[in-house]
Amino acid sequence: MLPIWYNDYKTFIEESINNYLINYFKSENNKWLDIIKEASIYACTWWKRIRSVLALEFYLMISWLDINDINTNSNIVKFCISLELLHAFSLVHDDLPAMDNDELRRWELTVWKKYWEANAILIWDLLNSLSFELLSEIWNTELIKIFWESVWIKWMLWWQVLDLYYENNPKKLTIENLIEVHNKKTWALIEISIIWALMLSENNIELKKFKEFWQKIGLAFQVKDDLLDVEWTPEETGKSVWDSEEKWFVYFMWLNETHKYLDKLIFDCNNIIKELQSEKLKFLVNYIWNRKK
Ligand code: IPE
Ligand code: IPE
Ligand code: MG
Ligand code: MG
Repeated sequence: MLPIWYNDYKTFIEESINNYLINYFKSENNKWLDIIKEASIYACTWWKRIRSVLALEFYLMISWLDINDINTNSNIVKFCISLELLHAFSLVHDDLPAMDNDELRRWELTVWKKYWEANAILIWDLLNSLSFELLSEIWNTELIKIFWESVWIKWMLWWQVLDLYYENNPKKLTIENLIEVHNKKTWALIEISIIWALMLSENNIELKKFKEFWQKIGLAFQVKDDLLDVEWTPEETGKSVWDSEEKWFVYFMWLNETHKYLDKLIFDCNNIIKELQSEKLKFLVNYIWNRKK
């Protein structure tokens, strides 16, 4: 069960995203957009919100603030919405027939399956643009550049190319390049959540100090995802199981070794954040380790 503070953060972020989307569509008053509005809200509904909860907690902790101290118009909230829109579109995109061709996510039909493929592509475009539009309101071109590079150069573009390549050439995949793909696709968005949160806080903090943390927690998140794919059923995880088993970590390391590898990553993450003495961050690391979905 999630602790009360996690649910508070989640509710706060969810309300902010909903208000943002509803206001956006209010200004675009055109009944032809109704299906796009419904599908966009559907794409952004219910999930762990782990990236924005991490961002919020890093921000609050470094700024010595409480969730009640921030208002819905603040930069950190805009950033969290932007992050979630980006995450949402990455999954809409990932599930498309031409990509993973998945029909189940979060115990519901995927966006393309429910609303038709062309609408899913349009929503992908829309959420992508809205995410960057919102970032531009925070108004710091240097930060936007970092975000853009992380998402498009280090992450989405790179890993999708590599992912598709190995899908067609599974025998070429080694454990080293699987780690690379995993790192690029999952770590970059987690990395950027932490970097921005630290940069948006008023207090100066050395970014480099957390580099090992965001790399390891990003990889741990994806290794755990592979374990969930192998050890749990779609009924339990709420999403389709990957059918290309050569791409699982477990394929190279077997279950036992994959668990050990994950345990070590988590151990290192806990070690790095020890000095911060934050029970919430500790919870988040262990949540990523023990999550069941
Ligand atoms: C799924 O991310 C995509 C991966 C990078 C493995 P999450 O597991 O955070 O998805 P939701 O948003 O909670 O469903
Ligand atoms: C999707 O990766 C994660 C993105 C970064 C878009 P996967 O294909 O491994 O994740 P799931 O299993 O569909 O959530
Ligand atoms: Mg997928
Ligand atoms: Mg995929």
